[in-house]
Amino acid sequence: KRTQVAIIGAGPAGLLLGQLLYKAGIDNVIIERQAPAYVLGRIRAGVLEQVSVDLLDEAGVGERMHREGLVHEGFEMLWEGRRHRIDMKQLTGGKKVMVYGQTELTRDLMEARQASGLPTIYEASDVALHDIAGTHPHVSFAYQGQSHQLACDFIAGCDGFHGVSRASIPRNVIREYEKVYPFGWLGLLSDTPPVSDELIYVNSPRGFALCSQRSRTRSRYYLQVPLTERIENWSDEAFWQELRLRLDDEGRERLITGPSLEKSIAPLRSFVSEPLRFGSLFLAGDAGHIVPPTGAKGLNLAATDVKYLSNAFIEYYQQGSLEGIDTYSERCLRRIWKAERFSWWFTSLMHSFPEDGPISSRFQEAELEYVLHSEAAARSIAENYVGLPLDFGE
Ligand code: FAD
Ligand code: DHB
Repeated sequence: KRTQVAIIGAGPAGLLLGQLLYKAGIDNVIIERQAPAYVLGRIRAGVLEQVSVDLLDEAGVGERMHREGLVHEGFEMLWEGRRHRIDMKQLTGGKKVMVYGQTELTRDLMEARQASGLPTIYEASDVALHDIAGTHPHVSFAYQGQSHQLACDFIAGCDGFHGVSRASIPRNVIREYEKVYPFGWLGLLSDTPPVSDELIYVNSPRGFALCSQRSRTRSRYYLQVPLTERIENWSDEAFWQELRLRLDDEGRERLITGPSLEKSIAPLRSFVSEPLRFGSLFLAGDAGHIVPPTGAKGLNLAATDVKYLSNAFIEYYQQGSLEGIDTYSERCLRRIWKAERFSWWFTSLMHSFPEDGPISSRFQEAELEYVLHSEAAARSIAENYVGLPLDFGE
């Protein structure tokens, strides 16, 4: 079998790329290790930048998002019992974000994929990439006990941090940058109304907390926890109790609790692999980089990688130009590093780092006092949170 672009991974990056290529008449096959239900069951991102919203519209999958998603014009930062609102709209000349869950987005993309009639092979095992250094790569995999080969022009590695794509690049041509944080996020999803209309990022003496949401009746909360913490040790009641302790009086009063629909712990990491291209293989999304979730950038970076990559393939197939393909890695990385920088900084500002010693705590206190009382600092947070323009610095 043969296709133009073989896409590894049916997460948001792979599905969105498949859809954009389909719209441009470029044949593609998606190969995914898991079953659809598994992919949909992972509760992850919740905040989309305008750039991502525009791209979903371009892909023709934005309809339900505009109907059911919540447009947010600001968010709050809570520190020492006081809330400080970051008025994104006012500080950025009108920009906003969209609260719409990654699971919903993935569902919309899966439906569009099905309607396109292009193949998605779920539950493929032993996925392996071959001859990626040259111009005639192929992908091998097993499906329902049979082995298959798929020849293609290009391979898009959209298979996340633990995927096979990045691991297939020879070690000597790739450079990896990594920082692992000494804590994780314990997340809880519940069918309860959110504690506030807007998101609240909390720096409390007991550690970071985030009050997020999926809809007016569904909440998503996170707590900073030590990496040694195990999910079995967190009953719903223990979670709610700890969240209350990290909130302010108003939050404690308004918090409505209920049974969890999902609870999980995610480690925090900053990671970039350079370059994002090797021969005919292109990495996009979490396959090439990870941010700690604090800035809500992961899914948005995956979307912009996919925008650059789909444009590159379209230019190649429609005009025979290699320009987009040859500049893909560099263009993506320029944007990625700025989001990495912001995510690392916002994580450092809002979490507890007791092991860094007393002077670090004082630095953090001074920085919070500065940031929360300086309009220039608030503007910088807002500008990064809504997402830098696509042509920033060009
Ligand atoms: P993934 O979603 O990881 O998809 C990769 C796919 O590839 C998976 O389906 C996987 O099964 C498949 N795969 C893996 N290996 C193979 C293989 N060998 N062969 C075939 N298929 C394979 N981002 C934001 O922008 N905003 C947020 O608010 C936000 N919050 C987050 C909160 C949490 C708790 C977490 C964990 C993440 C959050 N993120 C957020 C990050 C965001 O979820 C990811 O950046 C996003 O999922 C990346 O999409 P992706 O398609 O690149 O990778
Ligand atoms: C969510 C996750 C984030 O990392 C964030 O910054 C905002 C919202 C969420 O899952 O809702």
